[in-house]
Amino acid sequence: MSVPARYDGISRFLHWLIAALVAAQFLLGWTMPGVHRDTKPVGLIAGHLLVGTALLAVMMCRVVWRISHRPPDIEIARPLRIISSLTQFALYALLIVVPLLGWISASSRGWNVTLLSAAIPLPALSPTGSSFGHEMGDVHAVLAWVLFALICLHVAGALLHRFVFRDQVTQRMISW
Ligand code: HEM
Repeated sequence: MSVPARYDGISRFLHWLIAALVAAQFLLGWTMPGVHRDTKPVGLIAGHLLVGTALLAVMMCRVVWRISHRPPDIEIARPLRIISSLTQFALYALLIVVPLLGWISASSRGWNVTLLSAAIPLPALSPTGSSFGHEMGDVHAVLAWVLFALICLHVAGALLHRFVFRDQVTQRMISW
């Protein structure tokens, strides 16, 4: 079961950039102060918004790149291929939906959401004080856990290919 081809340079760059941004985003989300009615978006919370919108922008580039560039073929058992495709699809979906829900929640708190630290103002996705926006903040927190679980599954799959199956599947994204 050999897999000679590897992902192209842009795909590998975007993959590891997103991995770093997601790691930073979870750290910020879990260490920032609790968000309440009068909380101001400063300090770690400002960092969470900054990294989150950057992550969403990079994800958009990744989706466009993925649609226009077919990944290298792999020869793996059908059940594994199905699990892998479903996990990857869910990861893409959550990496777009979770930031969007965070953005809706931030807008409902009346916070200005920007890209690249105020360089590019982004529109509000919900009116200030909206209860829908508030509820989406709760969904954001729950789906962040689902995303975390999927990332663990994704990493476990990569380690399984590398150290148990000892095939080249993981190497396609690692080797430079
Ligand atoms: C993949 C990207 C993101 C991840 C993994 C993530 C993760 C998290 C986590 C773990 C929390 C803490 C939840 C808790 O209280 O237990 C949180 C809260 C929050 N995040 Fe994010 N976040 C992301 C993107 C964003 C973006 C793009 C924004 C806004 C532009 C945002 C805005 C918020 C807000 C406002 C809260 C407080 C939620 C509330 O209590 O209403 N997040 N996020």
